[in-house]
Order: sequence, then C-alpha cells, then structure tokens
Amino acid sequence: MQIRETNQGFNFDQYPTFEKNIDPKQRAWIEVRGKSLEANVRQLRSKLSQGCQFMAVVKADGYGHDAKVVSEYAIKGGASQLGVATLKEGIKIRSFGVKKPILILGNLYTKKDLFISFKNDLMPTISSIRECLICNNIGKQHGLKFSIHLKVDTGMSRLGFECNKFVQQFEKIKSFENIFIEGIYSHLSSADEHNSLDHKSTTQIQRLRFLELLRQINFERNHKIKIHLANSAGMLLNKDFHFDMVRVGLSMYGYNPLANLDKNLSLKPALFLKVKVAFIRTIDQGVSVSYGGKFVSSRKTKLAVLSIGYADGVPRNLSGKINVIHNNKLYPQVGSITMDQMMVDITGSIEIKIGTTMVLLGSDGDKTISPIDWARESNTIPWEILCSFKNRLPRVQVD
Ligand SMILES: Cc1ncc(COP(=O)(O)O)c(C=O)c1O
Repeated sequence: MQIRETNQGFNFDQYPTFEKNIDPKQRAWIEVRGKSLEANVRQLRSKLSQGCQFMAVVKADGYGHDAKVVSEYAIKGGASQLGVATLKEGIKIRSFGVKKPILILGNLYTKKDLFISFKNDLMPTISSIRECLICNNIGKQHGLKFSIHLKVDTGMSRLGFECNKFVQQFEKIKSFENIFIEGIYSHLSSADEHNSLDHKSTTQIQRLRFLELLRQINFERNHKIKIHLANSAGMLLNKDFHFDMVRVGLSMYGYNPLANLDKNLSLKPALFLKVKVAFIRTIDQGVSVSYGGKFVSSRKTKLAVLSIGYADGVPRNLSGKINVIHNNKLYPQVGSITMDQMMVDITGSIEIKIGTTMVLLGSDGDKTISPIDWARESNTIPWEILCSFKNRLPRVQVD
C-alpha cells in the first residue's frame, strides 16, 4: 500500500513559518503571575518597620520569571528600589522605562564599566577605596555626584570593605566631593538556617558586627544614607534586621525561606511551570522506560510523554522523584528525565489526552508543587531551581 501525504485543503499561507507565530503554549512554558507578585510585595511591606523601604531583587531575569514583568509589578506593590547583579541587567531594566533607583549588587571595577553605570543612572556596589576614587573622578568630570552604595563584609567573605579597616577608610571616602553615599550595606550568609534567632548564630553575629561598625563611624540615622542588611530570610526573622531598607528576592516570588517561622504569611507563587502532553502510549508489565532503563513497569502502564526536559532547566537528578498535577490529581514522573522530554505514569486516567496541559510547578485544585519541593529532592536550593529555567521556555504573563 502506498501512503501519500496530501496538502489538499490546507492553506499554508494562513500559517506563516515565522517563529513569532508559534504559540508560546505549544510545548512547555512559564506562566508569570504579576498580580501575585504585587500582592506578595504588599504583604511583605506590611511587615516592615516604620519607614523601611523595599528593594525588589530582580537579578537573573527576575529569578527566571522575566525581569520586565517582575519590575513592573514589584513597583506597583510598592518597591522603591530595584537590585540587579550586572551592568547589563541594570541597563535592560532602564530600557523598560523604569525610573526607580537601581543598585548593582555585583562588583564593577573598571573605569569603563563604572562610567557606563553612571551614564545609565545605576548605583554600583563599592568595596574598595580604589573604586571610590574612580567614581569620584567620574562625578568630577561631569560636575555631579555619583551615587553609590558602600558594602561591608560582616561574615560572607564575598564583596565588601573589611570591617576592621572600614572606619579609617570611611573618613577618606567622606572627603570625596563627587560621590553621594546612597547606602551602606552588608549581606547575611545564613539567615535561612533554623537557628538564626539564636544569639550565637552567624546571623546575629553579623548583625552585631554591622551595628558595631555603624557605631564606630559615628553613624547617625538620618535616612540620607540608607542602611540595609536583610534578604528575605533576614527580613522575616524580625524587625531588628530591617534598618532603612530590605533587599528581597525569594519571598517576593512567593516562597518563604523560613516556612517554620512565620506561619502568618500567605505568599503566592508567581511562577507556574506548565507543559503539554505530546504523546501517549501504553506499555506492558516488565517494560523499561527511558535512558538506562532505570524504571521498569510493574504492571500494564499508560504513559504520557511531556515536552520538557533538562535542556529546559528541569534538573535530571529529579528523575523518578517528582509528580505532575492535572485536575487536582498527582501523577508520578517515571524513568530518566531526558534532554527534551519526560514520561509520566497516567495509568487509570481517561481525561489526559495528547495536547492536555499538566502542571509541574504551581497549583491545580488543592495540589501545589513548589521549587522548594524540587530543591529538597535534588539537594539544592529553590533559588537555583528558579534561575535554571532556560530561554527555551517562553514566559507568558497571565495578568
Ligand atoms: C546582595 C543580595 N541581597 C539580597 C538578595 C536577595 O536574597 P533573597 O532571594 O534570599 O531574598 C541577594 C540574593 O542572592 C543578594 O545577593
């Protein structure tokens, strides 16, 4: 028998082949819920001490959510500053028309980069006198003051002036006429650990070091210079960590890094990961599934093949450890997760068909799967899960 493909009756001109014509929900995608993010920012702000400002940390493309959407809704929720990691991220956010102050949390150290930062009205994080001098010279050349944040290292051993040298260095920095010190800050290394409230914890020691430093420089809280220390976990610990501003990432996206501490928070995930069923097959008992045959069916099994894999950012070491939701029911993922696809055991389901949408992260009915669950299973942290999603997954705004 000869099988012939026919184009009869199909108008190809109606379906141009440009990439933009591909439905973003054709395969797998990330739903970004701006309104949830906005509500999270409002809720978190309601917990801040009086006058404390909220910096929304939108680095790494808004923790993988889409920095444009995140910046817009964080500002709607009341964020007064934004934090990015790189010069490029800062410039990108400015290109969206964002007028709020933007702090670059990473280090810029060349004249050129600091000049570009100045030109784009981005505040660099400064950790040395050398960088201060460069900024001062840039300011002088333009007859302006270059706004910067000074960072001190209270225990992270990453960026920042050394605490014991800062007092002397600060005297010098104050004499630079073309610098405006917008903030002095430090970063907590372990605030999400369960013992953070213990007075001997790293977090409390960091806070005390920071306070001592402020005392030594005779710092008077006048709110011209913003003092900031807390990330999400630090902010949620208690108000002692709030100072003039908090820098919040994870909790704004809907995840509480201290779930056992503040039970009154009802944050909503701003990211849903969804996927289409691309194929369905039924296998007999004793049949292996996927690379390495790590899963062998113990009964006749109906499989859905989902169009998502580790090339989209789903960690391969989650193979066989996660569930997928459809219509308020959980279905186990089976066999090794492959580069572009994964299999799910849907035995017993008659409603799941080719083209059905399933939820990998987010909620459906009363079932919820969070990046915190994935992180636990794959021995990492939710931050890494969120930042691993690749551009192959279109970001679709739902609000
Ligand atoms: C300097 C700094 N501040 C604040 C944050 C936000 O942290 P979180 O996502 O825990 O709120 C980060 C994130 O890594 C950071 O590097």
